[in-house]
Amino acid sequence: MRRPVVVANWKMHKSVQDAERFLRRLLELAPQRPQVELVVCPSATALQAVGRVLAGTKIAWGAQSARPEPEGAFTGEVSLTQVIEHGVTHMICGHSERRALFGEDNRLIARKVEATLSAGLVPILCVGETLDQRRHGEAWSMVEEQLVVALHGVELEDPSRLVLAYEPVWAIGTGVAAQPDDAQDMAARLRRWLGERFGAGGGEVRIQYGGSVKPENARAFLGLADVDGALVGGASLDPDSFWKIAQGAVAGRQP
Ligand code: PGA
Repeated sequence: MRRPVVVANWKMHKSVQDAERFLRRLLELAPQRPQVELVVCPSATALQAVGRVLAGTKIAWGAQSARPEPEGAFTGEVSLTQVIEHGVTHMICGHSERRALFGEDNRLIARKVEATLSAGLVPILCVGETLDQRRHGEAWSMVEEQLVVALHGVELEDPSRLVLAYEPVWAIGTGVAAQPDDAQDMAARLRRWLGERFGAGGGEVRIQYGGSVKPENARAFLGLADVDGALVGGASLDPDSFWKIAQGAVAGRQP
């Protein structure tokens, strides 16, 4: 049984104080043993504070991005080693904003995935097509190429060590989510691909949908047969809204 995983991607939002306030409220809302795995990914500047509040709770925290090199001349960047110091268990790899705004290509993403796995953390690997690619019928070939390169050389012994996020670029931050049928279609293809690439265990990798997920549409996505959670941007900034989305993952699983 694949346990749903709902991830908050705060992007470049929240001061340390805002982050702490959010978490105090989320801890009030979430039971001690939530049925859904919850992961919060703050800015690197808030990681230490987030780690302090969440240590010993059932909520995990992760990095939005980090360089795979342990140290070096990378002005303005943080390394995976540095974020690990703050107790992260997850890292988002290949987010479309990193691809489009910071020039990250599939090869760099592959190195990040590899470094994340070698460090014993869970990569949340994002894949997705642009609107143009979808209109030209290239959605799957685009996503497949991202997968082939990013997971090149990866050996997956335990499917819970990898999370895949299908995030159509045109749905991110736009308020216009994909159609649930399209999300399911893509998630099913991803699952087939994972099964072929990694064997039976590959089919057990959790697949999230991301792109304008909100409390109002969460259940429609999280109830899909091959969707096991959500990567949430804008609607994860408010703890009540994030928690409602997480509850959608539980409700979506009810027969
Ligand atoms: P959004 O962002 O929920 O604001 O569309 C999703 C993401 O960037 O992962």
